[in-house]
Amino acid sequence: MANLGSPRYQLLCAFQFLVLLQTKVFCYQYKVGDLDAWGIPTSANSDVYTYWPKNHVFKIGDSLLFLYPPSQDSVIQVTQQSFNTCNLKDPILYMNNGNSLFNITSLGDFYFTSGTAGHCEKKQKLHISVGNGSTAYSPSYGPGALPDTAAPSYTPVFGNIPAPPSSSPSQGLSVFIAAVVGFVVCAVISGIM
Ligand SMILES: *[C@@H]1O[C@H](CO)[C@@H](O)[C@H](O)[C@H]1NC(C)=O
Ligand SMILES: *[C@@H]1O[C@H](CO)[C@@H](O)[C@H](O)[C@H]1NC(C)=O
Repeated sequence: MANLGSPRYQLLCAFQFLVLLQTKVFCYQYKVGDLDAWGIPTSANSDVYTYWPKNHVFKIGDSLLFLYPPSQDSVIQVTQQSFNTCNLKDPILYMNNGNSLFNITSLGDFYFTSGTAGHCEKKQKLHISVGNGSTAYSPSYGPGALPDTAAPSYTPVFGNIPAPPSSSPSQGLSVFIAAVVGFVVCAVISGIM
């Protein structure tokens, strides 16, 4: 067993805390379709937007990035009914700058398609579900998740830390705060032990 009071252990412990915090709390930006941009699916990959959301777990605070040539395409958020019938009238949200970020701010189902006539019928349509979060809190999800090797048993105490705003300056600050908190907590715990 390592010497729990050593500064080295405390540093390691603070680092683990950071990793846990990152995998649990930080928000992710997902590029819709991954390597494929937002557009009419190619015949080789015609169900790309059906499969893509199944490989991701979305949560509040995450965002979806739609990339496309702005002169040729657009993104609209529509109702479930409009999604099913490819009705492009009266969208909930219309974005056409080619680099559109949809921010997930509530639970539920979100339906997107192209605002360009004919594209919806060619399966350029995306439905995502944002669930209650039990799966979103598993450390094994999200890009950059590291293997959860030696999770200390006291981590559930930190389960309710509020998500930091996703803008980068404050994220940097919260990383710093998390590191400090983690260090102090670890120091206290190893002091007790
Ligand atoms: C989502 O948030 C980003 C900045 O965080 C903002 O630029 C963008 O306009 C937002 N998207 C929508 C659809 O409001
Ligand atoms: C969230 O969970 C509650 C009860 O656990 C359930 O009633 C509700 O439908 C769920 N919401 C979603 C979006 O899954």
